[in-house]
Amino acid sequence: MTLKDQIDETKLPKHLAVIMDGNGRWAKKQGLFRSIGHESGTKAVREIVEACAEFPIPYLTLYAFSTENWNRPKLEVQTLMKLLVSSLKKEIDTLMENNIKLNAIGNLEALPRKAHTELLGVMERTESNTRMTLTLALSYGSREEITKTIKEISLKVKNNLISPSNIDESVINNHLYTRDLPDVDLLIRTSGEQRISNFLLWQIAYAELYFTETLWPDYRKDHLFEAILNYQNRERRFGKTSEQLNP
Ligand code: IPE
Ligand code: IPE
Ligand code: MG
Repeated sequence: MTLKDQIDETKLPKHLAVIMDGNGRWAKKQGLFRSIGHESGTKAVREIVEACAEFPIPYLTLYAFSTENWNRPKLEVQTLMKLLVSSLKKEIDTLMENNIKLNAIGNLEALPRKAHTELLGVMERTESNTRMTLTLALSYGSREEITKTIKEISLKVKNNLISPSNIDESVINNHLYTRDLPDVDLLIRTSGEQRISNFLLWQIAYAELYFTETLWPDYRKDHLFEAILNYQNRERRFGKTSEQLNP
């Protein structure tokens, strides 16, 4: 039986998020430039998007560029932005054919104009697609997102549009970049690092975390199936006892 056959399709994560890490180390291991690692990472993106669309897993969110990544060498940042533009151009047809909606979260205004325009164009064209929502986290940082949210809510309080006593979790949710997405069920990070790096801090409150040594450019469908099988063998208790869940 293949790994995929072992997966229980009734217990799939609804929202899968991935911290795609290890492109640089993958390249370095082979004496290649880091940019080759990033380029090779796009193959893994295609595989994982395809696998999720096949099930389907309705929400897939990929961490592609963090607010902190702006501090990388200028040339690397440029390479990543160029790669974003070329990937968007290359993948638009596949997104349409597979009925996938492209969404983005983060401080998108900080992106170079060309990348920003291309991104908005693809988002607009795929807007009515319904099979799956693919969200790219670009110039994304959870602290930036939460700060922005607090500012927006404060302004509404100041203008008497909302009273502080009415601020609850759903009000906060509705001001986040992820307002249209459900909570994350499974978060995968590749490359052996076991940290969150400012990704979806609010949204992963009850996510299952899965860390793997595989470097992102080597990540293939079977790696994802392994992670999903592992996820399906966990008991998500959400604060309750095991006995309550299995009376
Ligand atoms: C992930 O790979 C891609 C981005 C963060 C943009 P890295 O570039 O972080 O690769 P490592 O961690 O240096 O190996
Ligand atoms: C996290 O990876 C950001 C992305 C995958 C886009 P990093 O490689 O930037 O994370 P740190 O800085 O090592 O934690
Ligand atoms: Mg890294």
